[in-house]
Amino acid sequence: MKAVKLFKSGSEQTTSLEFVNLEAPKNVGKGEIKVKVYASSLNYHDLGVMTGNMPSENGRIPLADCSGIVEKIGTEVTEFKIGDHVISTFFPNWLDGTPNFSDFSCVPGDGIDGFAQEVVIKPATAFTLAPKKYSHLQASTLTTAGLTAWRALIAEGHLKANETVLIQGTGGVSIFALQIAKALGCKVIATSSSHEKLERLKQLGADQVIHYKEVTDWSSKVLELTDGKGVDHVVEVGGANTFEQSCKACKVGGHIALIGVLTGIHASIQTLYILMKQLRINGILVGSRKQQQDFVAAIQEYDFYPVIDKVFAFNDLRNAVQYQITGQHFGKICIEY
Ligand SMILES: NC(=O)c1ccc[n+]([C@@H]2O[C@H](COP(=O)([O-])OP(=O)(O)OC[C@H]3O[C@@H](n4cnc5c(N)ncnc54)[C@H](OP(=O)(O)O)[C@@H]3O)[C@@H](O)[C@H]2O)c1
Repeated sequence: MKAVKLFKSGSEQTTSLEFVNLEAPKNVGKGEIKVKVYASSLNYHDLGVMTGNMPSENGRIPLADCSGIVEKIGTEVTEFKIGDHVISTFFPNWLDGTPNFSDFSCVPGDGIDGFAQEVVIKPATAFTLAPKKYSHLQASTLTTAGLTAWRALIAEGHLKANETVLIQGTGGVSIFALQIAKALGCKVIATSSSHEKLERLKQLGADQVIHYKEVTDWSSKVLELTDGKGVDHVVEVGGANTFEQSCKACKVGGHIALIGVLTGIHASIQTLYILMKQLRINGILVGSRKQQQDFVAAIQEYDFYPVIDKVFAFNDLRNAVQYQITGQHFGKICIEY
């Protein structure tokens, strides 16, 4: 079978992405399932691994997301049957409850081999069923970006109708957050660095939009748009250079789902913004298998489909990565096998 491996190249922290032929795995053990991979999607995390910015083991198979079909089941597997449409989980060992880890050592495409391969055999608990109404491409966007947005707003944020949500930029997590917030009847304020993308945000239901490069003090604009009150939730994907403004943009008692590192990880901020506004800052690392199952169930009720910007063939993974680097995408970039 065809697969992709990452090899360290040169003395710099760079990697080369090589296509290899591997023997397809055959033996399905107790509690395991064999899955034919049909689609994956690219996340900022995958980009970090594939470009060597997030060091991984030499020869690692990248990609965290998978949508596929169960081809064989091992003994003692009762949850799935042959032919089921399944999606992978970001943390195969975090089934339910509170997290008890703080790294990516068990994450496919980082600490363990991922889904840039045509067939995998893994424990059944490393998958959940996919939403019935989604194609493989659509389902492949859920397991990192979708679940992160859902956990941020629903599982941890306890989002309620008529609340206001601030989203930053137009990447995978942010667009899912917009769609989930609109599905619940919330108001959304969205930012982007592109006028064209701001228009697309409005078409998707964003109530107010801000060009964060032209309006550099965008938190003041958010306060103006909310009659000085601020927003109930911020889906914070910017990191170091956006965090302080996210605090300023929040209402008293507001919630910040701290998710991303797009502008870095070292910030100097006025802690009084957090203290005086009594903000709830919630660090988020994707979600558990149970949260994914709850998200999949919720999707049956939601009226939206993932926003897929562009689809690349598996053979064309290198070009997909180059496209991701340009930052032109709006929503998700997908890989079809
Ligand atoms: N903690 C977690 O569990 C978790 C899970 C998934 C992702 N993440 C993190 O969340 C972030 C987004 O991930 P993703 O996969 O959604 O990324 P992505 O799809 O690659 O999205 C990147 C987008 O972010 C926007 N952006 C860049 N700099 C920005 C800034 N200064 N302010 C506002 N927006 C900015 C840009 O939107 P415009 O082109 O519209 O400006 C860009 O297109 C990354 O840092 C990623 O590591 C964390």
